[in-house]
Amino acid sequence: MYDFDIAAGSKAELYRELAGALDALTAEEPDAIANMANAAALIWQYLPDLNWAGFYRNVGDELVLGPFQGKAACIRIAFGSGVCGTAAQTRATQLVDDVHAFPGHIACDAASASELVVPIVHDGRLIGVLDLDSPKVAHFDAEDAAGCEALMAILAARIAD
Ligand code: SME
Repeated sequence: MYDFDIAAGSKAELYRELAGALDALTAEEPDAIANMANAAALIWQYLPDLNWAGFYRNVGDELVLGPFQGKAACIRIAFGSGVCGTAAQTRATQLVDDVHAFPGHIACDAASASELVVPIVHDGRLIGVLDLDSPKVAHFDAEDAAGCEALMAILAARIAD
């Protein structure tokens, strides 16, 4: 197992340290599933108050469940459907303070109250999305969105087949 000494004082520092750890973990590994699995584990371990963290992959213009941490989840999500499908279709990060107020939200885990979904794009191609769920309302903020976008910028090339 890999142990990273991440004890950040601020959120910005936490994301900087996470980016370093993710970079180190995935730099030499060409296998996309292995890299997504370690990214999900890293995020799950170090970001506070999550009840789900993981990936949906773009398989033939449909989102299919990828490596994750948390409860078993819905397997296939159409582009445009729910928070993940909206992120996939628009290629824009979705920061949702209250999932119950999001039209078409797909409730995989009843504990989820807020959600952050970041599209992962490489060479103009949508590879998939990172999906984070929290049991706390309005848990994620713009710093989380920017931090996770930076993490996905590192990961994108390393999970593109
Ligand atoms: N809530 C998501 C579905 C995926 S689960 O949260 C793991 C959505 O609305 O797209």
